[in-house]
Amino acid sequence: MSNIKKIKVGLLGLGRVAEHHKKYLKNNKYLKVVSCCDQDTQKLKIYSKFFKIKDFHKSINSFSKSKNFDLAIISTPSGFHSSHSGILLKNKKHVLVEKPASLRPNDHLKLSKYAKNKNLFYDVILQNRYNKAIVFLKKILDKKILGKILKINIRVNWSRNQAYYNDKWHGKWSLDGGVICQQAYHHIDILSNFFPSIKEIYAKKFNLSHKLQAEDTFIANCILEKNIVLNFEATTAIKPHDVEANVIVFGNKGFVEVGGVGMNKILNFHLNNNKDYNVKRYNQNFSTGYGVNHLKLFNEVGKKIINKNYKSIFNPKEIEQIIINIHNFYKASESKKIIKYKKNNIYKNLGINVKF
Ligand SMILES: NC(=O)c1ccc[n+]([C@@H]2O[C@H](COP(=O)([O-])OP(=O)(O)OC[C@H]3O[C@@H](n4cnc5c(N)ncnc54)[C@H](O)[C@@H]3O)[C@@H](O)[C@H]2O)c1
Repeated sequence: MSNIKKIKVGLLGLGRVAEHHKKYLKNNKYLKVVSCCDQDTQKLKIYSKFFKIKDFHKSINSFSKSKNFDLAIISTPSGFHSSHSGILLKNKKHVLVEKPASLRPNDHLKLSKYAKNKNLFYDVILQNRYNKAIVFLKKILDKKILGKILKINIRVNWSRNQAYYNDKWHGKWSLDGGVICQQAYHHIDILSNFFPSIKEIYAKKFNLSHKLQAEDTFIANCILEKNIVLNFEATTAIKPHDVEANVIVFGNKGFVEVGGVGMNKILNFHLNNNKDYNVKRYNQNFSTGYGVNHLKLFNEVGKKIINKNYKSIFNPKEIEQIIINIHNFYKASESKKIIKYKKNNIYKNLGINVKF
């Protein structure tokens, strides 16, 4: 293992989530950080020292032209993700971008197509897909163990303070959006990709605790295909700390509740036939909503690129569906009526137009 030729990595954006990445990248088996970029000189100093590197940049223009690295990991504010991914792909870098892949529909599909044509790896960080509880949920849904799905409840009860929203980008329409684009993005991924499509939406957004352009609280009631009823709520307004991020699925043969602060535990699993699945083995301890599974994703990306397998891990159409559903939720929250889901429902405030 020690003579594996590691993939050389450049980090773009050295904020909170990069701090979380750091510990998984320091002695990673497949990836070696050799370059970094941030507008903040202090952060450049800290990261250069931590990774013992000499190639650091204050702007994406010089960073993207660096010959030192092959894979860029992007952790800049959400609204920059698609433009930054585009710049790096055009400079022949493989790209792994933090979620959300884009704030506008179509950007991710366009970039995926470009990357495929150029033989480059391009994907988004959905670390929660690796949670044991989520893998179990997917398995029982695929095997239809709960029978006919009747009803789904999704609840994200997290806590942020006003200082979090007072920076240059959090809660701003152009660069972030509100709780459904940021904290509940992973839950909208599960909703969008594990269950039948949304048909109708009634939604409302609120600012219960904070001042921000977008919302700190969002509620929605939806009817999905097959007449499944969905109750969705997400907030950052509660105090004093993050409480839960739960997905509860009720079928006509039983129900499952995935919970914990980051969808990391099976809190309930009950079937008509009383069969015991020993679900405790799927529980993982998370101290924060970031979870622990960035490492698994980094390792898989590293192995794929080493093996010159540039196919994305996540299906680009699934990633696209997340942002389409977020736009539909916002459209519904504006209309004060039940709206029909449409693939081309666009909420104009969200994101920045980028030409590729
Ligand atoms: N996977 C997850 O669960 C998860 C968790 C948290 C955050 N995120 C995502 O990570 C991204 C970053 O979030 P964060 O909390 O780390 O934000 P942050 O504000 O703490 O960090 C962003 C960093 O990017 C730098 N930056 C901004 N514009 C830049 C530019 N043009 N060029 C170079 N550097 C630039 C800033 O100086 C800052 O250091 C967001 O898109 C967020 O959605 C994902």
